[in-house]
Amino acid sequence: MAGTRWWQRGIIYHVYPRSFQDTDGDGIGDLEGIEQRLEHIAGLGCDAVWISPVYPSPMKDHGYDVADYTGIHPLFGTLEDFDRLVARARALGLKVIMDFVPNHSSDQHPWFLESRSSRDNPKRDWYVWRDAKPDGSPPNNWISVFSGPAWKWDEATGQYYLHSFLPEQPDLNWRNPEVRAAMYDAMRFWLDRGVDGFRLDVVYYCMKDPELRDNPPNPGWKPGMPEIDTLLQTNSNDHEDMAIVISEMRELVDEYDDRLLIGEIYLPLERLMAYYGRDLSGAHLPFNFQLILTPWEAREVAALVEQYEGLLPEGGWPNWVLGNHDQRRVAGRVGAAQARIAAMLLFTLRGTPTLYYGDEIGMPNVDIPPGRGEDAWGRHEAGFTRDPQRTPMQWDDTEHAGFSTVEPWLPLSPDWRARNVASQDRDPGSMLTLHRRLIALRRGSPALAIGDWSGIETVGDVFAFKRHREGDEITVVLNFGAREEEVADLHLPGGAGRITLSTHLDRDDETVGPGVRLRPNEGVIIVA
Ligand code: GLC
Repeated sequence: MAGTRWWQRGIIYHVYPRSFQDTDGDGIGDLEGIEQRLEHIAGLGCDAVWISPVYPSPMKDHGYDVADYTGIHPLFGTLEDFDRLVARARALGLKVIMDFVPNHSSDQHPWFLESRSSRDNPKRDWYVWRDAKPDGSPPNNWISVFSGPAWKWDEATGQYYLHSFLPEQPDLNWRNPEVRAAMYDAMRFWLDRGVDGFRLDVVYYCMKDPELRDNPPNPGWKPGMPEIDTLLQTNSNDHEDMAIVISEMRELVDEYDDRLLIGEIYLPLERLMAYYGRDLSGAHLPFNFQLILTPWEAREVAALVEQYEGLLPEGGWPNWVLGNHDQRRVAGRVGAAQARIAAMLLFTLRGTPTLYYGDEIGMPNVDIPPGRGEDAWGRHEAGFTRDPQRTPMQWDDTEHAGFSTVEPWLPLSPDWRARNVASQDRDPGSMLTLHRRLIALRRGSPALAIGDWSGIETVGDVFAFKRHREGDEITVVLNFGAREEEVADLHLPGGAGRITLSTHLDRDDETVGPGVRLRPNEGVIIVA
């Protein structure tokens, strides 16, 4: 697959460090735990591991409130543990991607402590401070992502500061060149330590309207949606000056060999594409969350893939995501049977797939009993906790699922004794086996890994498409419904082909053509 970069051919595995593996018996995962479990990730056939934040932090937002951009939280270990993890990853052929949180720090970061200490402190302008309106209310109508006003009054210095997320996560002022220089130094620190790239947390928030004008109301808001969505985020993020920031970050990583920039960007596709940058000078992979956000129906998903492929800039590399620590798990969203279709889709679409830990064994969303909730969003706004998708990895059927020797920080899913890596490892029909086979197929097939994509007309609940490269052609047929379906003609070269994988894992080598019959919730991959 000459001419392509590792992250184009590669598969990214996302670890939520609190929940992967505990080795020091505090019920919370750690770096040594991740290191011990890297073989699982490599064994799946993944190429890179992205680790959610492990920096020193008061943990108000579980690490996304960073108090030191160049350290490791003692909960997770030490810098030496981090170096060992990177070395072990190298030995296994895995890349390591660091989570980087540019938009805001913790309110306990020394920069903010200085900034809030007085109005004339040299770091005052490192954050976004404004006077109250004459009636004492906040400077504008912006709402925090976690609900409530995005401004907090500081009694001591008599001004408000901006926090797009928690009050304990003040927004840095990216219009200040000193802030940018300091953040770029922090990125260099990790690049020099050997990390292979960054996942940039809510990077599109870094640049706001310089005049901080009000956001307009959102006519599409309906009860049940979070409060933040009562307004359109017209002025509070995604300002056109983001182009400058993202290209500066790209220039920085380009000083190093073959590093990767992923942007966490929840924007409509048209705007998302801007983050590839002019002449692809921006993020390599602006995360594409549309498979999470689009209704799970064949026609909708087919239209989405068509639209996304059509909007990509010339040479822009696609990517696909089914889940992360902020979104309900795919097995819960679409159901266990369709989660197999989702996996087949993820690993056969064109573009880099990112796999969220636990989805390879079909982990569900876990109901958290009252009193065990941990997520700050859940505490600030009823109904929006992200705990259900963050529960500990289910490794085996020993006590605490092999995750820890003590009661974990969040409860295990009740199904852990049956649903775990060890049991699925032995089961030729398991979700884990399906993942291994899908990934192996993708890695072994240039058509699947890097080939072109084209859709076949969608009939009923079926979404079918082809991947092709240099004469090789692969046909993927996915039944999004719970009824049998028949596709009459798949336009197979020579009119016939062979099933190489079914989501049910029991149709290997069956000859098919010119069409195919699918069982309920079945997907197949056909080679010509
Ligand atoms: C991103 C993270 C999320 C966090 C937020 C604020 O969306 O993925 O977990 O709460 O940013 O940092």
